[in-house]
Amino acid sequence: MEAKDIALVQESWQKVVPIADQAAAIFYRRLFALDPSIEPLFSGDLENQGRKLTQMIGTVVVNLGRLGTIVPTVEDLGRRHVRYGVEPRHYRTVGEALLWTLEQGLGEAFTADTRKAWTEAYTILSEVMQSAAARSEPGPVVSSV
Ligand code: HEM
Repeated sequence: MEAKDIALVQESWQKVVPIADQAAAIFYRRLFALDPSIEPLFSGDLENQGRKLTQMIGTVVVNLGRLGTIVPTVEDLGRRHVRYGVEPRHYRTVGEALLWTLEQGLGEAFTADTRKAWTEAYTILSEVMQSAAARSEPGPVVSSV
């Protein structure tokens, strides 16, 4: 990613951090509205799950300039997602819910350039997760909690 796009993602994420719990709640509501078949994949404690999600996004965001250092972490995450019953088609829906949430949370600060930068970051993240998932051994579907 170009330095200016990394900066846009990092600056906008700083504005989401103080409202992360509300943003996570908005995200899940939107996600389950877009695809109700996704809801049963989650075992219930969405508050806790939302914190794990925002923490992981935060880790990725601070490391965007040195992606190599977090590729193994993101690959592990992608392989665990196979166990949660996540399918490749879900990544598009999650991306849509994420962008929508950022737009709700950031309002006018979510400019067209910021959207483009987030789209690029999410695409990279989900491609790394999915390619690791595709190379992983099949196993039983489990819950993360
Ligand atoms: C690409 C960005 C994504 C990130 C950063 C992310 C992050 C996380 C994290 C940190 C966890 C906690 C458990 C763990 O670390 O293994 C988790 C669990 C989970 N994620 Fe994701 N995830 C992403 C994409 C998706 C997608 C596309 C789906 C599809 C619906 C999904 C569904 C789930 C489910 C079902 C769980 C387990 C929930 C439970 O057991 O209650 N995630 N995710």
